[in-house]
Amino acid sequence: MTHRTCQAIILAAGQGTRMKSKTPKVLHKIAGLPMVGHVSSAALNAGVERVALIVGPDMDAVLQEAQKKHPSVIACEQTERLGTAHAVLAARSELAKASDDVIILFADTPLLRPETILAMRDKLAEGFEVVVLGFRTDAPDPYGRLLQQDGKLVAIREAKDCTDEEFKVNFCNGGIMGFSGAHLLGLLDEIKNDNAQGEYYLTDAVEIANARGLKVTAIEADEAELQGVNSRAHLAKVEATFQTRAREEAMANGVTLTAPETVFFSHDTKLGQDITIEPNVFFAPGVTVGDDVTILANCYFEDAIIGEGCSIGPYARLRPGTVLEKKAKVGNFVEIKKSLVEEGAKVNHLTYIGDARVGAKANIGAGTITCNYDGFSKFKTDIGKGAFIGSNTSLVAPASIGDGAIIGAGSVITDAVNADDLAFTRAKPIVKPGWAAAFRSRKSKEKK
Ligand code: UD1
Ligand code: MG
Repeated sequence: MTHRTCQAIILAAGQGTRMKSKTPKVLHKIAGLPMVGHVSSAALNAGVERVALIVGPDMDAVLQEAQKKHPSVIACEQTERLGTAHAVLAARSELAKASDDVIILFADTPLLRPETILAMRDKLAEGFEVVVLGFRTDAPDPYGRLLQQDGKLVAIREAKDCTDEEFKVNFCNGGIMGFSGAHLLGLLDEIKNDNAQGEYYLTDAVEIANARGLKVTAIEADEAELQGVNSRAHLAKVEATFQTRAREEAMANGVTLTAPETVFFSHDTKLGQDITIEPNVFFAPGVTVGDDVTILANCYFEDAIIGEGCSIGPYARLRPGTVLEKKAKVGNFVEIKKSLVEEGAKVNHLTYIGDARVGAKANIGAGTITCNYDGFSKFKTDIGKGAFIGSNTSLVAPASIGDGAIIGAGSVITDAVNADDLAFTRAKPIVKPGWAAAFRSRKSKEKK
């Protein structure tokens, strides 16, 4: 295929009233990323050079969110919401720059794959001027119908404008369309709003293109890929489809999921090979897991890097800024935030590590707490290589424990401890010989 230029127009100006939300619909998230981000990623991964987002007058947040992931995305404002063709025309100045191909995408259809956009571009390269993405479904009710004659796409009819016969058609419009850049503006300018909803329908471009003798075709995609989100129930359905895809991909790439349906990935989770993940594990955005890692049941991770051969959980929480180097061990009821746990270090039980470095092969005893916050500021704790922190220790930051130092159990450490020193704070035990036995015998006599 010769190289053709391509721009994408993403429609995002719709109100999304059925979401019943203060947040614009396309900012609702699938796998931790707003829907609009999924769609702009798909466009850019399909080799589109320019992306214009059509937003309503009150939707700065949508553009900001889209630009967070892709700074090159620009916005065009649709001042009134008069239909999908009217929305595309809001990008008239962009369209005037005339790319060879223009792909129209919906920001509320986030599972579309770059491969499918490429298949549409292939059709445009073959010489079709209009390409429509369709799908077959058992429940076509709300969708526009793709009307074909002798295998040719002749029109798209919105459900509300269908005759009884047309309404029975189950080949539906996914909403996504591809156009030859040379013809799009001419087609859009001819679209009228004489239909059941009084809107300018992009879908009318098909009949107009046929009347002009242009080549029009439909390609079929998977129904799940074209699921649009109009309600919270659709959002959950699309999330479920995303997760099924992500789990299948993880397993295909060498990850064992003991109970796949209970593990939830983010849009950007990166997994190595020979990882085992037990049930009920949640990956929020920004997590990378190296090879040969074992994740036991019931863990939550966010913005964390887990090095090769680590073992984590059950019941561990890694918060943003956590880095576990090779073969580190993090056990049950441990929370780690913004900390580096160096190679082979162990944090096995009931511990909070925040704003800290845990040196290589250090051992952190059960119930250790880095006291990193005084109610106003955060302070750091530095634990040296091979240090041993006894159980139930509070390290009051700023704290520094030298390499190989030992801290006795039950200590509150407020001063720096040098390498290889022992430090502990301890009240002397008071021992009263035989007191417990005498107490029990007195109490049991009183009871009689
Ligand atoms: C549209 C299609 C329908 C298709 C269905 C697939 C048209 C006329 N109909 O219907 O054939 O089966 O999608 O899901 O295209 N938008 C704007 N400005 C507007 C109106 C809409 O930006 O003035 C945006 C919305 O934010 C949304 C997209 O366009 O991202 C589609 O609009 P929506 O109202 O959801 O169209 P449907 O009725 O679903
Ligand atoms: Mg819709």
